[in-house]
Amino acid sequence: MITKLVMATNNANKLREAREILAPLGIEVLSQREAGANCDPEENGTTFAENALIKARAVFEATGLPTIADDSGLCVEAMDGRPGVYSARYAPEGQHCSKLLDEMKDVPEEKRGAAFMCTIAYVDGNESSTMSGECKGSIGHEMRGTNGFGYDPVFMVGDRSMAELTPDEKNAISHRGAALKALYEYLSKK
Ligand code: IMP
Repeated sequence: MITKLVMATNNANKLREAREILAPLGIEVLSQREAGANCDPEENGTTFAENALIKARAVFEATGLPTIADDSGLCVEAMDGRPGVYSARYAPEGQHCSKLLDEMKDVPEEKRGAAFMCTIAYVDGNESSTMSGECKGSIGHEMRGTNGFGYDPVFMVGDRSMAELTPDEKNAISHRGAALKALYEYLSKK
């Protein structure tokens, strides 16, 4: 049984969520910085799994500790799954939602389906594995709400945008929460 692992990120929200979900297993989750790894590999994969594995392998090689890394993004049906793995690079900082709304402005309601996707990679000296989570919704017609980040203001779940949910409400349905729960199952069997 593992007692300690590194998460290949310094993002406080991702760390908090992973710590909360893995705490019942008695696993301590270190940030990349706490583990003394200073690496930022090029994420040149074409799938979420490839990019998550690239990040996890780099930090595992630097620390020698079991490592997890996540990669996530938004897949829009009317855009053939774009921006997908390129979600962070889709637009300049602060312009992702407005660019998406503009690109979707002529798309009718029934064709506005979308999903947030997240894949978490686990790497240690013996094995590697990936687990994924998905959160289905649709693209709204305007930005709503102030919580969350990224595409949350334009991602509708029912009649509220993701940015109108509380952090707990979001975690309960989010793609990252689902992938973390799959990771919990995987680690509880190790
Ligand atoms: P990363 O996996 O943290 O690099 O995230 C990739 C990109 O996907 C982010 O920059 C966001 O634009 C988008 N994204 C991932 N998860 C979420 C989410 O929960 N809400 C809103 N946007 C997200």
